[in-house]
This record gives sequence, structure tokens and C-alpha cells, in this order.
Amino acid sequence: MDLQRLDPRDDAAVDASIALDDAVRAVDEPWNPSWPRRSYVAHLTHGWDGEPGEKWLLWEADRVIGHLSLHLSYRENLHRAGVGIVVHPDERRKGHGTRLLDEALERVRKAGRRLVGTGTLADSGHAEFARTMGFKKVLVEVHRRQDLQAVDHERVAELREKAREAARDYTLLRVTEAIPDDLLDAVAELTGAINDAPTGDMEVDDDVFDGARIRAFEAGRAAEGVHMYRLIARLGTDGPLAGHTIVGVHPDLPEWGGQYDTAVARAHRGHRLGMLLKAEMMAWLAEAEPQVRWVDTWNAESNSHMIGVNEALGYRIAARYDSWERDV
Ligand SMILES: CC(C)(COP(=O)(O)OP(=O)(O)OC[C@H]1O[C@@H](n2cnc3c(N)ncnc32)[C@H](O)[C@@H]1OP(=O)(O)O)[C@@H](O)C(=O)NCCC(=O)NCCS
Repeated sequence: MDLQRLDPRDDAAVDASIALDDAVRAVDEPWNPSWPRRSYVAHLTHGWDGEPGEKWLLWEADRVIGHLSLHLSYRENLHRAGVGIVVHPDERRKGHGTRLLDEALERVRKAGRRLVGTGTLADSGHAEFARTMGFKKVLVEVHRRQDLQAVDHERVAELREKAREAARDYTLLRVTEAIPDDLLDAVAELTGAINDAPTGDMEVDDDVFDGARIRAFEAGRAAEGVHMYRLIARLGTDGPLAGHTIVGVHPDLPEWGGQYDTAVARAHRGHRLGMLLKAEMMAWLAEAEPQVRWVDTWNAESNSHMIGVNEALGYRIAARYDSWERDV
């Protein structure tokens, strides 16, 4: 199979890859906006937090008709690889998907990993493809979207007041962009609270966080050009960090906010900190990015605590995604 590795410095190849993704989005997920080009390139060079993975393009003449993404972590999950396969809507059911997957499995085998994970829209032809290819469904993830023009802001204000009362022993700290050095290790430890989010039947290790990984995450967002808003709850005014929530807004997509992690450390659960953080973030965004209309978030379908908070704040289901795994 004639695959060419996508070099993020090759503008023509990046454009061709984005053109494929836009064609796919128009058919499969028309409710989602196109990524800013700078974000696309930054993900190729930085990934989410410093482990970018590889993208390989399937060309036909001067057009990209498919691509294959491979992600291998060297921090944890040394037994597995993440694989993404995309075929142009006009080129489906011709065997390209099967050939791209065979190629992916071969590479994963050569890398010494025994398991591959992938994701598809739920209850779709893509899910049928995964099932046909021997994958087993291991988790359902739900994409919810908050429309800030439709949200009942009075209700949100009530929820925020109740949360302030329940969490009166805590204070909030606003951080834009980089975490100050003196908080870095504590933020790394707090970030590990995300490992308590449900992962269904996935065979995954806990993510291991340290200061360097937090800095790599920040470098990735800075390369994208994203404005980051991080709200941190701590016990008292200088006690241990208890929880945080992060939202990113890209200047090239100014009406859209991306909800990144929200997590409360185990010792501090049960004080409505999840609600407090998210409701206070809404107030902050209204000041700092008043043009934001939609905020997107993803949760495992079984994550009832986080979903309860999100639903109360007006998030509504936009789409469902299946996560899949198979041995190589
Ligand atoms: C899923 C996807 C990669 C399939 O690509 P493709 O080139 O059409 O796949 P193939 O032609 O190799 O299909 C192989 C088999 O999978 C099954 N399959 C593929 N698409 C299907 C669909 N829409 N409905 C039902 N079965 C389907 C069929 O059994 C098919 O064999 P057949 O055409 O002889 O019946 C493509 O639809 C796509 O890009 N989807 C969006 C991204 C995605 O979800 N990727 C999958 C996760 S990696």
C-alpha cells in the first residue's frame, strides 16, 4: 500500500489531509466545526501532551482518499496502540479501510504491542466496520454540548450559590496558560484524579502525570494558539489542591469552547466542587470570552456524577461514540 507519512511542515500534504477530514465531517459529523489549521498542525507535532503519534496518507493522484493514525504511548499502556482509519466518503466499500487496518495491525505487531484500540460513531456503518474487523465494543462515550444562549442562567446561578455554600471551606484560583512553577507538582498529582473516570471494559493503565507532562500539555495548547482557562479549587487559601477544570478557546474558532479535564481529588469529593468549578468557569468565560456560544464535552456514558453536573448546567447530547479493542 502506498502510504506517505504526513510531515507537518509539508503545507500541501497538510492541506490535502484537512480536505479529507472536512469531506468526512460534512457527511459523518456535520454538527462539528472544522479544526483551525494551526490546531491540526500542532496536534501532528505535539499531540495532546507531548506524544504526537504518526499519520500516514493514502494518495490517489493529487488527492488524499484515506489516512491512518497510529498512537503509541511510551509512558504507560506499553501493551497497546491507538489506531484511527478514515476513508473518503466517495471511496468507501472498496476495501481501502480493510487494507489500512491490515497495515496498521502489521505496524502495531512490529512495535511489539498486543492490543489496538479505536473509536467510531455509535450505531453507524463505521461501528459495523469495526465489528466486522474483529473489534469488541469496550466503552460508550457521549459528546454533550452546552448552548450558552439556551442555558437557563438563573438556574445556573442557583446551582452556583448552593455549590459555594457546600464548598465554603475551599477557594478558587484562576490560571491562564502556564501553571506557576510552585504549583506544578501539585497540579500533576491532581491531574491523576482523572484516572477515576470510568473506562468500561478497556484494557488501559492509569495515566501517569508529572510536571514535565503538564508542561508538554501546555506546550501543545500554546502551539495550537489556544487560550487556556484553568480553575483550581484548594482547601482554604493555601491548602492542598482539591479539584480543577480547564476550558480552551481558539481565536480562529471563537464561538467554541473545548472542555478539557474536570476532576476532583478523592479526599475532596462530596462538597459540590465539580458543580462549583464548572459553574464558576461559566462565569469566568462570560467575562473573558463573551463570544463563546457552545462548549463541548465528552464523558463515558457511565460517568453519572460528571454527567449529572453537565446536564444540570444545560449540556445536551450531541452524539455517541463507541470505543473498540482487539488483539493484533
Ligand atoms: C469505517 C471506514 C474506515 C470503512 O472504510 P471502507 O474503506 O469503506 O471499508 P472497507 O471497504 O474495507 O469495508 C470492509 C467491510 O466492513 C464492513 N463495513 C464497512 N462499512 C460499512 C457500513 N457503512 N455498513 C455496514 N458494514 C460496513 C463491511 O463488511 C465491509 O465489507 P463489504 O463492503 O464487502 O460489505 C470508513 O467508513 C470511514 O472512514 N469512517 C469514518 C471514520 C471511522 O469511523 N473509522 C473507523 C475507526 S478506525
